[in-house]
Amino acid sequence: MWTKESLKEVIEKQLGDYLLIVVSNREPYIHMHKKGKIICQRAAGGVITALDPVMKACSGLWVAHGSGDADKKTVDSNSRVKVPPDDAKYTLRRVWLTKEEEDGYYYGFSNEALWPLSHISYTRPKFEEADWKMYELVNRKFADAILEEVGDRKAFVWIQDYHMSLLPKFLKDAAGNRIITAHFWHIPWPNPEVFRICPKKNEILEGLLANDLLGFHLRHHCENFISTVEKEIEARVDRERFSIIKGGHETMIRPFPIGVDDKYVEELAESKEVKEYMQSLKEEFLLHYDFIMLGLDRIDYTKGILERLRAVDRFVEKYPEYRGKFVFIQMGRLSRMHIPAYKNLNDEINALVEEINWKHSHEGWTPIIFVRRYINYPEVMAFYKLANICIVSPLHDGMNLVAKEYVSARSDNTGVLVLSKFTGSARELHDAVMINPYDIDDFADKLKIAIEMDKKEADFRMQKMREQVAQNNIYKWAGKVLSALLKFEFKE
Ligand code: F6P
Repeated sequence: MWTKESLKEVIEKQLGDYLLIVVSNREPYIHMHKKGKIICQRAAGGVITALDPVMKACSGLWVAHGSGDADKKTVDSNSRVKVPPDDAKYTLRRVWLTKEEEDGYYYGFSNEALWPLSHISYTRPKFEEADWKMYELVNRKFADAILEEVGDRKAFVWIQDYHMSLLPKFLKDAAGNRIITAHFWHIPWPNPEVFRICPKKNEILEGLLANDLLGFHLRHHCENFISTVEKEIEARVDRERFSIIKGGHETMIRPFPIGVDDKYVEELAESKEVKEYMQSLKEEFLLHYDFIMLGLDRIDYTKGILERLRAVDRFVEKYPEYRGKFVFIQMGRLSRMHIPAYKNLNDEINALVEEINWKHSHEGWTPIIFVRRYINYPEVMAFYKLANICIVSPLHDGMNLVAKEYVSARSDNTGVLVLSKFTGSARELHDAVMINPYDIDDFADKLKIAIEMDKKEADFRMQKMREQVAQNNIYKWAGKVLSALLKFEFKE
């Protein structure tokens, strides 16, 4: 079983004099002004959940966009700050972006073009030349910051996600094999018929093929990527080695299903702090029902939030005996609100919650509590502990770590996970109650199955899922990526 310690050992043994640099758009710790003071929050989201424990275990440098309004006040003259602030374990180097750059690169090309293109959730991608220019420019800005950090040393740069598809090429063009790059694409890779509409497809594929290693959560996404390359550009695919050779350079393509730090989640979930939060959340939201169903997401059209609300509505319609006996609490973190599709979704959610609650309200009871506020990690744990049912219903998701975190937090083996078949997690968590979020009637029936599941069966299923999540923890994911890289022997 991989642990923090075994990962650390691999890194210390194998990295030698190579610097370890992680790059992502989102920074792990954000400094903000609040009530006349500067506070620091750990950012939410899959990449942070996954990589913060890895970086804590092995130090190194994390390069990311400095997006907090107090970020500039907390760095040194090289834009660096030690994090976490109360227990410094690694260095964060912030990259500064102008509003115009953030608009074009983050809101524009990353999240209005690549995000909907990669997820099959029927939101049309929007390709704007001006956004692309900013995307290119910001990728160069990240490359410059990394090259400055590396100097004339050798480095292993671990790139995260779809915001950075040009970065590997910029790094390799400047530093050759002195920099070894592994790139993990945290979202799905679509099939070639979907990807072919992207006007910048060649540039993106060429950027990604500068990597030494390119990882996806699932083998299916690796296959999609390889088929896309075969259809779109001149490159040789080596099926046996599962690699692609372009211009004499080989990129290994590999599946690495990501996990969570299950031990940390479990310990935190059992802490006194979480118990106190549980009590205060119970009081705040009057959670005195027999059944508490939970949804916890960034507000995003890929997450199936509307479908989940409709399923709850249908559940009450079909099974009125549950009126007043349960509540569905949805925590929704606002996200990417400058993009019309996100703003519209948020408005639609508001209207739907209002409509469903009005329709079913009965003697002060309403089925849905929708909460939009920042909740810290211990509070997230408190919600996991309070919920007998957790509903994870994306229309399409690379992995989904909420599912794995919920399972990790249920150390007494109680609780039922209701999980969309269209998440990467569903390939591992076979003992969840599986749903198709598009099939609202069946979804409602599955909620009934979850509520009525015999305790012995629920415990057994949860125990099996917990074993699975523990086996494929985050240290295994990081260790596997590093082990695959060892094949390059860190040659000059
Ligand atoms: O992999 C998807 C991702 O980039 C993850 O970091 C996270 O789940 C989410 O999207 C974060 O979104 P954002 O950084 O745009 O808020």
